[in-house]
Amino acid sequence: MAPHRRLEGKILIATHNAGKLREMRELLAPYGITAVSAGELGLPEPEETGSTFLANAEIKARAGAQASGLPSFADDSGICVAGLDGAPGIYSARWADGKDFMGAMARIDAELRERGCLAPHERKAWFISALSIVWPDGHLEDFEGRIDGTLVWPPRGAAGFGYDPMFLPDGHERTFGEMSSDEKHGLPADGSRALSHRARAFQDLAKVCLG
Ligand code: IMP
Repeated sequence: MAPHRRLEGKILIATHNAGKLREMRELLAPYGITAVSAGELGLPEPEETGSTFLANAEIKARAGAQASGLPSFADDSGICVAGLDGAPGIYSARWADGKDFMGAMARIDAELRERGCLAPHERKAWFISALSIVWPDGHLEDFEGRIDGTLVWPPRGAAGFGYDPMFLPDGHERTFGEMSSDEKHGLPADGSRALSHRARAFQDLAKVCLG
């Protein structure tokens, strides 16, 4: 296995999503990393043909590195529901048609009910965040963060995005939709484990590629 590689200087963030771009820029700025995005450079969006979160993150990062000649950083994420055999998983965004998360949450709840999954222990779910960095010479670093929880109904809270209002992280009494962004995504100053899947993956990335 090739030795790990540090991320330095200017990179490409392989996303066309303004929200993701803002979040990633904020995470990388303290390390002196500046970033342009695939959207800003007008690069095409590759088809996400992978069957895992990591495969899809890698497809986006690899396409970005080839098109820009810069180290490229990409993510892929979603929610997996145990009682639905891991669905929606890599199709999390598609279940919402891009934006109808109330509809996507209602579909999850309805499908769980159809299968008789009503008790909290039958409504377990987890979020996954896969992060990939690919350098123009093909070197790859990848990381995966996970947070486990239970799906509540009705959804609670108006903070966050996506499936946040129905996700109650284990050991907590408020859903992601009821938490501040800092509580959900923040990186604890004392180095203890962050809460969200994305923050956890980023902590591992920072240790290996930014330390
Ligand atoms: P993608 O990573 O852009 O393919 O989309 C991931 C999808 O998963 C988003 O559209 C959301 O539906 C969902 N998702 C990922 N992370 C979170 C999160 O932290 N909270 C709520 N929903 C999320």
